[in-house]
Amino acid sequence: MVRDILIWPDPRLKEKAKPVARVDRAIQSLVDDLFETMYAAEGVGLAATQIGALDRVVVVDVSPRQQEQKPLALINPVIVSSTGTTTWTEGCLSVPGESEEVERAESVTVQALDREGRRIEIVGAAGLLAVALQHETDHLDGTLFVDHLSALKREVIRRRMKKLKQDIAEGRRPLDEGEDQPAL
Ligand code: NI
Repeated sequence: MVRDILIWPDPRLKEKAKPVARVDRAIQSLVDDLFETMYAAEGVGLAATQIGALDRVVVVDVSPRQQEQKPLALINPVIVSSTGTTTWTEGCLSVPGESEEVERAESVTVQALDREGRRIEIVGAAGLLAVALQHETDHLDGTLFVDHLSALKREVIRRRMKKLKQDIAEGRRPLDEGEDQPAL
């Protein structure tokens, strides 16, 4: 089922998600909803926090940019090591239409459980996949890419998001400007 994506600022986006104790039907259904919602929004990553669920679950599919990568459902993801630094222009499905440069680790290794509850490890992820894994695990801790920006830039974006929410509430959603960066 396609779910509504929370738009920042929203207090629910600042909450810290809880570890999943058991991968059961409810968690698998959450994974399925996350994939459906992410694809409907044409994003390349989505965290449960963004649809108001406080379980540590994210989905990532960077295949539009890195064709060799398969869709990933990650439950209780943990970044166990990281190397280097890179600067990436990031967007976020919870901050529509905005993108800014964020400094991240260049490469990360992540451990998690998959949709069947099996332990998996993504070793030495690089490029957009590395950025997406960091961006989504950040969401589970209540951190958005705007939290990595200067206070000034964050306030400018906050004002535009308030206007956007007002427009949505009043039924005049502005035209999609066609982002060149896939949102996470
Ligand atoms: Ni995001």
